[in-house]
Amino acid sequence: MMPYFKILMLLSLCHYLGAATSALDERIIGGINATIIDYPYALQIEYYELVCGGVLVASNWALTAGHCLNDRDTEVFIIRVGTTDRGSGGETFEIAEIVYHPQYNWEHDDYDAVLLRLNATVSSPYAQIIEMVPQGSLLPQGENITVVGWGWINEDYHDPDDDNFPDTLQQLDLPILDDETCNATLSEYGIYTDRMFCAGYLKGGKGFCNADNGGPVLYKGLLIGIASWTDNCARALRPGVFTKISSIRSWIDNVIF
Ligand SMILES: *[C@@H]1O[C@H](CO)[C@@H](O)[C@H](O)[C@H]1NC(C)=O
Ligand SMILES: *[C@@H]1O[C@H](CO)[C@@H](O)[C@H](O)[C@H]1NC(C)=O
Ligand SMILES: *[C@@H]1O[C@H](CO)[C@@H](O)[C@H](O)[C@H]1NC(C)=O
Ligand SMILES: *[C@@H]1O[C@H](CO)[C@@H](O)[C@H](O)[C@H]1NC(C)=O
Repeated sequence: MMPYFKILMLLSLCHYLGAATSALDERIIGGINATIIDYPYALQIEYYELVCGGVLVASNWALTAGHCLNDRDTEVFIIRVGTTDRGSGGETFEIAEIVYHPQYNWEHDDYDAVLLRLNATVSSPYAQIIEMVPQGSLLPQGENITVVGWGWINEDYHDPDDDNFPDTLQQLDLPILDDETCNATLSEYGIYTDRMFCAGYLKGGKGFCNADNGGPVLYKGLLIGIASWTDNCARALRPGVFTKISSIRSWIDNVIF
């Protein structure tokens, strides 16, 4: 019964591909403008330019996705806190210490999380520490979550000079999809584990994109996840994948307290 349902579901989902084409032509990822006042814990991780989002989990610790550092020279990174604008304003920090999740798997993005200790304590009046869901808490299946970030707002492969970045913070609501659907759609090109959840529209058109990874995902004002991986951006049958805070919360607490 179950596999049958899955196949039927995938077949019917394929009908969406045609319908999604017009949305993809516009290449709009579908967010709206936001300000740092609304999301004061959101931060930017720059390596010459923005490479990832992140979230302030203590006055001197940022949480982001494990793959964001990507073997790059640690001394070059800048963490920017307390500003709506991409790449300017706010308060900037260097990385003083890096703590990967001990089970982080770079190949499959399992336990995709790293904590970065800042070289000083954040004092910007526009910055605030996020509250997080507890270890082991259940996901609000089917509910909308909110993703925020300064990553690409379109996915234009035809013009490499096109600046795909927004000037300011973006926010986007996405519905959480059930594990069955996530696993079925994502298993073609990735490994979906218990440390992950996925969210998005199967017809595509909305989703996170390059340099949004590592950024906060919220449910009712609490941090429920961080953006982890996706196949291209906002494509049909390609929901975004998030690291569950409920799977890594006790590790976070152990490191930062
Ligand atoms: C969003 O912000 C950008 C740049 O800050 C601005 O050009 C644009 O008009 C804003 N969009 C809306 C819908 O307010
Ligand atoms: C921390 O790093 C920032 C950015 O490079 C720098 O401006 C600041 O002086 C540093 N603070 C301390 C206490 O080293
Ligand atoms: C999620 O957001 C969409 C778009 O704003 C809305 O149509 C839908 O009703 C919301 N779903 C829930 C469960 O609130
Ligand atoms: C996803 O599907 C694979 C193979 O069907 C299965 O081994 C795995 O446990 C599933 N993962 C989740 C999180 O449902």
